[in-house]
Amino acid sequence: MKKVFFALALLGVVLVACDDEASGVENEPIAQEELVDMSDFSLYVEADDFDSKSTSSKSASVFEKCVAMKNLEYRLEKNKGLAKKMYDIEYATRKAIALKKGGQGKPGNGGGGGGETGPIYEGAITIPVVVNIIEKNAGQVTTAHINSQIAILNDDFNNNNSGTSGVPSAFANLVADVNVTFTLAGVNRKTSSKASWGTNDAMKDPSQGGWAPTDPANTLNLWVCEIGGGILGYAQFPGGAPETDGVVIGTDFFGENSAGGIYGHGRTATHEVGHWLNLRHIWGDGRCNRDDFVADTPKSDRANYNCPTYPTTHCRSADMTMNYMDYVQDDCMYMFTTGQNDRMRALFVAGGPRAGFVN
Ligand code: ARG
Ligand code: ZN
Ligand code: CA
Repeated sequence: MKKVFFALALLGVVLVACDDEASGVENEPIAQEELVDMSDFSLYVEADDFDSKSTSSKSASVFEKCVAMKNLEYRLEKNKGLAKKMYDIEYATRKAIALKKGGQGKPGNGGGGGGETGPIYEGAITIPVVVNIIEKNAGQVTTAHINSQIAILNDDFNNNNSGTSGVPSAFANLVADVNVTFTLAGVNRKTSSKASWGTNDAMKDPSQGGWAPTDPANTLNLWVCEIGGGILGYAQFPGGAPETDGVVIGTDFFGENSAGGIYGHGRTATHEVGHWLNLRHIWGDGRCNRDDFVADTPKSDRANYNCPTYPTTHCRSADMTMNYMDYVQDDCMYMFTTGQNDRMRALFVAGGPRAGFVN
């Protein structure tokens, strides 16, 4: 078992205290809405969750590995500054959401490398997408795969998934229209006979035969290749290196794709773009009290698979199994919540890690 805990909450308190002393400011009362509680934040990665389940038939539970979290563990080990950066983004995210709740709707005030925040970004967002394909034979990934994937992302991020009518009434008022439009900005193709590219970002490295990302500050890069190990896809969270920023999707699971079986309806991209926009798995990757840092998603202590019936109860409440950030099959996930929408949108304020997309 391996745990990477990052408890900067204490350090945060120390820094605030130092600031106050240095500037000689009297202890001014902090406005209630600006209080940010970071006590539960940790970059929590538990390797036990990722092991085993290594058969290769395409049944549901084979795809259990949380690869976005596994890649995060790898990146945290390689880059000691990353944890601090992700902590800063988390702090800014919570402050932006608190400001929104407090009703202080002044426009974002610029600058500050991820530290400065206004309220969350409320406008329409357009995300240009470059698809970087590494395929066995030229044309294996078709234009239909590409176009259907863009269409599915647009459905899901604009509350246009036809499955959403199945949201139980208990969650109906939480369904979000995220109002993000994805546009196809380019397609890069090369062929390779490599059987599996793994999850250490080789597909993003030209020196290893991959594609470097195109303009990651202003573009979402998708890589489509054979990942191997029964892995559907993985994403890099905000704050990581630009050279590896983006989302990787296994070839069979890209777009509307008969090879993908129950994962052949393009929702791996929706789930991974959720991670790329800082969403955690809905159960928080741990026990009941491990949070996904979203207030309106119910607590749970596990992923759900296949197509659960409602209610499926864990941690004394019904799981929101139909959320894109659970592990159910593609046609059984059909909502983001308003709390998830706020969390994603906090990244787009001036100085935030995804601000480049709205400038
Ligand atoms: N297991 C993968 C991850 O954690 C992707 C899960 C996507 N689920 C789906 N129904 N397509 O990143
Ligand atoms: Zn995931
Ligand atoms: Ca929650």
